[in-house]
Amino acid sequence: MAEVTLREVGLRDGLQAEERVLSPEEKAALLQALRDTGLSRLEVTSFVHPRAIPQLGDAEAFLDVAEKPPGQVWSALVPNRRGAERAAARPIVDEWTFFLSASERHNQANVRMSVEASMRAAAEVADAAQGAGRRTSAVVATSFVCPYAGPTPPGDVVGLARRLFALGYRTLLFGDTIGAASPTMVRRLVRELRDALPDAELGLHFHNTRGQAPANALAGFTEGVRLFDGSIGGMGGCPYAPGATGNVATEDLAWLFEAEGHATGLDLARLARAARTAETLVGRRLPGAVMRTFDAAPGGGGRRDAPWPSS
Ligand code: COA
Ligand code: ZN
Repeated sequence: MAEVTLREVGLRDGLQAEERVLSPEEKAALLQALRDTGLSRLEVTSFVHPRAIPQLGDAEAFLDVAEKPPGQVWSALVPNRRGAERAAARPIVDEWTFFLSASERHNQANVRMSVEASMRAAAEVADAAQGAGRRTSAVVATSFVCPYAGPTPPGDVVGLARRLFALGYRTLLFGDTIGAASPTMVRRLVRELRDALPDAELGLHFHNTRGQAPANALAGFTEGVRLFDGSIGGMGGCPYAPGATGNVATEDLAWLFEAEGHATGLDLARLARAARTAETLVGRRLPGAVMRTFDAAPGGGGRRDAPWPSS
């Protein structure tokens, strides 16, 4: 039984910021590489405007060729009513993830709406999801620092989280969109969130721009968070956050938690192999660290050094 859940967001957050646009078939190949790694929750695409994120403009075509292994829960981003209509037409997506930014300026840049307009959209998406019988979750981006406005007051984040929870969003994730949080910031926000919303499932979404994502994840864990986003190999970024780089690599988080004695239910060697596949598909060297400690030999699983802890 896993003690910590790592949610794989590479097919969404990762690919949306990669220069190379993958075909639906290439995305399906990445899914296949992730298949037997033990991952149970994956964010696989976005129902956003194809002009905003061309890399995910094939959401429907990709979902039509994608195969979901038994036991996996798939989510996709849904920003508004139009997104909800599209998601409703693809029942393979189990969970709709609404997203907004705690910072007014980042929200405008990202979804061309005020935060208040996004809250109205959050209500519409929640209603539509309920009508369609889907699970929901919500991500609050720029929960720590905004690229335009600087540090985000924790009270703003908690206020939005309370409103989202009241709308029915029971799983709430908090994004360090530009990878500028520190462990102290994380501990403080998580404590406030847990006090305000003891019944919510809290998750953390770290970008590793400054290399602090593993430290921040551990800080969140010590405050009780058990859900963390990662992207295989550390792909990605955010096209609407200047300077943002990839998500923390899923396999790096997995290694950290396993080394600390917290079961993830993940197979590190298979994750490392999937990271290599991701690297080949996006056509660039990915920043993941743990993948380098595994042998690249075809059919692999061999070791170059001792990738303790091994699964
Ligand atoms: N999917 C596809 N098309 C959409 C859409 C969606 N979710 N939402 C709106 N549209 C279409 C509308 O149908 C309309 O089309 P029309 O001109 O043919 O009638 C057009 O887009 C404009 O609609 P509007 O409601 O004014 O949307 P917008 O242009 O203000 O864009 C978003 C709003 C949210 C759709 C857009 O900013 C977006 O997709 N952002 C995504 C950002 C993102 O994914 N960031 C990364 C995640 S951190
Ligand atoms: Zn992100």
